[in-house]
Amino acid sequence: MSQFSDSRYNANNYNTYRPSYPESFYEKLKEYEQTSLSLHDGRLKTLLDIGCGTGIATYQLSKNLKDFDQLIGIDASDTMIKTATEAYGSIKSLSFEISGYDKIDDKFASESIDMITCFQACHWFDFDKFVNVSWKLLKVDAPLAIVGYMDSVILEYPELDSLLHELEYGQENLGPYWDQPGRTILRSGLADFHLDETKFTDIQEVIIDAKMLRSKYYDSDNNPLIVSKKMALSDFANYLRTSSSYFTWRQKHQDSEDLVQIYMNKILEKIDSLKLSSEVTIVWGSYYKIGKKKQL
Ligand SMILES: C[S@@+](CC[C@H](N)C(=O)[O-])C[C@H]1O[C@@H](n2cnc3c(N)ncnc32)[C@H](O)[C@@H]1O
Repeated sequence: MSQFSDSRYNANNYNTYRPSYPESFYEKLKEYEQTSLSLHDGRLKTLLDIGCGTGIATYQLSKNLKDFDQLIGIDASDTMIKTATEAYGSIKSLSFEISGYDKIDDKFASESIDMITCFQACHWFDFDKFVNVSWKLLKVDAPLAIVGYMDSVILEYPELDSLLHELEYGQENLGPYWDQPGRTILRSGLADFHLDETKFTDIQEVIIDAKMLRSKYYDSDNNPLIVSKKMALSDFANYLRTSSSYFTWRQKHQDSEDLVQIYMNKILEKIDSLKLSSEVTIVWGSYYKIGKKKQL
């Protein structure tokens, strides 16, 4: 997947319109961090955030997990790393490096890392290869967290779900422009991929369906990874334009009317009371897998 490495990809828009992750998820990571802390003299040296993109999660990690001496964001795309460095590089504990996930064991010693995270990137990786290289670098009992979000809905308007689906997956629309199998793997919440119980302990794996959040019976208080953002409908349109599929579609249809705008017009036609400036609640389906390195 090369769209995020293309110099024409707008990484600033990515940083502005993509969601961040809820504080409650960092609380969950802290629970894992605490066991590492007690094992490693109360001080943690290094956290690696792999596939860090523009540093959205790396920055949040630095704000929420304060026991690390350094947090290093790693990404294969120089465009992403440049944007991350401009946005967050002045924060003392944070730094960013260009590297593929499969090369990180050339850069760091075995059993030298206190936590590895991977937000919204693992579906592009060879899962087993990524988990194995992470396992090698982690100290015993240090956590690996793999996290992501997938299709979004406008919480207040279930009647718009089918239009959004048509835009993102219709064969005439963005459907053919997703890199596969990454997108299909992501949409499943990486359901067929698991942390190996012989190598990890305290494993938790959770998948959240965005549409379930509309149910008044859904226990969202007990779910640490509800990814949601209130934004103007026009900003949601800009979010949709940050997808790799939209980027590829646009490159191939430079003279066509903007697909996202066409669908925004359909949305406005369908719901009279909505305007592009109206604030709506966007929620994403999401998943996480966390485990701690087990001594073999
Ligand atoms: C959707 S972005 C996620 C960025 C960020 N973690 C976030 O939560 O917003 C996926 C990132 O994975 C990176 N990526 C893709 N293949 C990679 C690889 N082989 N090694 C490292 N990073 C890679 C891309 O460059 C991109 O920045």
